[in-house]
Amino acid sequence: MTGWVAVAGLGPGAEALVTPEVTATLAEATDVVGYIPYVARVTPRPGLTLLPSDNRVEVDRATHALTMAAEGKRVVVVSSGDPGVFAMASALFEALEAGPRDWRSIDIRVLPGITAMLAASARAGAPLGHDFCAINLSDNLKPWDVIEKRLRLAAEADFAMAFYNPRSASRPMGFERTLEVLREACGDARPVIFARNVSLPDETIRVVPLTETTPEMADMRTLVIVGSSRTRIIERPDLAPIVYTPRFAE
Ligand SMILES: C[S@@+](CC[C@H](N)C(=O)[O-])C[C@H]1O[C@@H](n2cnc3c(N)ncnc32)[C@H](O)[C@@H]1O
Repeated sequence: MTGWVAVAGLGPGAEALVTPEVTATLAEATDVVGYIPYVARVTPRPGLTLLPSDNRVEVDRATHALTMAAEGKRVVVVSSGDPGVFAMASALFEALEAGPRDWRSIDIRVLPGITAMLAASARAGAPLGHDFCAINLSDNLKPWDVIEKRLRLAAEADFAMAFYNPRSASRPMGFERTLEVLREACGDARPVIFARNVSLPDETIRVVPLTETTPEMADMRTLVIVGSSRTRIIERPDLAPIVYTPRFAE
């Protein structure tokens, strides 16, 4: 039997935001590998083996997936959101590049998903409606100096910014420093969106001026969006404000 690997994005959490392509591919799979909470989102069925693993073993997991596909299994590697955004698709290709030559003949597909940044942006309005960038605030895989440099240059270029992995228990200081850097670099007048558990029943969306932000407003279930100098807020009676960035620059 010919094996394959599909690296699939499960979207931000809601079942309605999983693409039909991902659902159809899961229905053909023999094995699903991924981080424990993501594999838990896949409905068990006869003939499907679920192989959850811990965080920070991404390349081991990818190597396992490629090994199983080479043996003829139909393997789905699951990520949250989109698999190409700070997730398993790059880990799979790192393992492919380092692995045996014959792995390069394996049928490998990357199936897009709705990334947290776009789900959060849609909830708030259209804060990413003009030029923007996405930055992973975790310094697990890159030095903090690089993150800080990118923050300053993104602020100087007047991008709206989306931050993934903003603040964890093991690195609480990074997001505090991020807010300090942004206050220095951007001035005062930026709206900041804290979108937590987007698309899930306990979703919260808070819009806070940059001057009033505090580090505790974010955790690892939060996607943070900082507006550009052009980002605007439309206040509405008895309804949540709309945050959007116009399509034109000055
Ligand atoms: C390892 S990254 C994975 C990103 C994922 N591949 C994506 O495209 O959304 C995990 C980070 O994504 C963000 N995230 C993922 N799902 C989220 C959700 N439902 N609501 C808010 N943020 C989310 C958080 O910033 C979290 O720390």
